[in-house]
Amino acid sequence: ATHKILLLPGDGIGTEIAAAARKVIAWFDSRAGGVFEIEEDVVGGAAYDAHGVAITDAAMDLAQASDAVLFGAVGGPKWASVPYEVRPEAGLLRLRKDLGLFANLRPAICYPALADASSLKREVVEGLDILIVRELTGGVYFGEPKEIRDLGNGQKRGIDTQVYDTYEIERIARVAFDLARTRSNKVSSSEKHNVMKSGVLWKEVVTAVHAREYGDVALDHILADNCGMQLVRWPKQFDVIVCDNLFGDMLSDVAAMLTGSLGMLPSAALGATDPATGKRKAMYEPVHGSAPDIAGTGAANPIAMIASFAMALRYSFGMVDEANLLDKAIAAALDTGARTRDIGGGDNSVGTEAMTATILAALDRL
Ligand code: NAI
Ligand code: MG
Repeated sequence: ATHKILLLPGDGIGTEIAAAARKVIAWFDSRAGGVFEIEEDVVGGAAYDAHGVAITDAAMDLAQASDAVLFGAVGGPKWASVPYEVRPEAGLLRLRKDLGLFANLRPAICYPALADASSLKREVVEGLDILIVRELTGGVYFGEPKEIRDLGNGQKRGIDTQVYDTYEIERIARVAFDLARTRSNKVSSSEKHNVMKSGVLWKEVVTAVHAREYGDVALDHILADNCGMQLVRWPKQFDVIVCDNLFGDMLSDVAAMLTGSLGMLPSAALGATDPATGKRKAMYEPVHGSAPDIAGTGAANPIAMIASFAMALRYSFGMVDEANLLDKAIAAALDTGARTRDIGGGDNSVGTEAMTATILAALDRL
């Protein structure tokens, strides 16, 4: 089978980590005898400079035709004053929207070699491997009405509306339960049914999907505020956490700090499965941005990007053994002591290329 990848490097360190990703893809491609087909295009500021938009229709067509989009990062001071509709982030938002990427997967893995870089004690985080599944296209970030209303008496009212329909909760719940089956078989559903009607429905729908389709998976419910506390107290109690857009935004950032650096964190965004082909739209990207402060210096940590490709192997290409191998190679590279500056390399820091080479060497060795 051929897997079509659309590589969108973007801006700043996006281009540097994309170069690292190309090398890793090439390694797996030669090992598997040529299974990847890579297209490439510009996005974000780079697309604005070339075409006056944050992403072209042609690039969107490539994204629609791909099995996975691998996205670097967009943005930077150069584009601070371009019109709002074509600002670099608009490219990312269009991809998410047009591809229907409703499920955001954010793993929080604490590599033993980095356990001391976490904001928590080593014993709390060492060996941590949890997955936050965040609903990405609904909830309070999109619900209507959404406005600042002038009340006419010198007062204004800021209004956002949390809206969830049954189908939106069902499909994100299924993503979480399916993923749990490939892991420790446990889902924690997080909401605030004690104060929110959407939380009552969330809990009800997740419970119903579980009872109907996923009796083999353990399910518990946890209030979102308590979930934040428990993530910091004893995160290893969790396996998969499923939550809405707003709580997921916060909980995934809390979980990120358990693991060390922004430069380590991959993510995936998944859409619905096409019943005709059995394939699902997907985009993989590091959590971090374009890091203008270090762009062009060759210092960027490529691990978030490379780990994002590992997620593509796992969730889009059905290459689970290869995904496990790549995750192991990242851990092994860290075990050699190689560190970029963001993960505490200090004066002995290695750059993007050397870190990538260390991972490729680990792949050769494992
Ligand atoms: P950022 O994530 O780009 O950088 C924050 C800090 O982390 C910086 O000090 C940076 O040097 C460091 N850092 C980030 N990734 C790193 C890596 N791989 N290796 C080493 N160090 C790394 O966030 P910031 O500075 O708030 O935003 C910069 C630009 O990126 C802005 O234009 C922002 O809009 C954009 N951005 C884009 C995102 C995306 O494309 N998905 C996500 C977040 C921000
Ligand atoms: Mg956030």
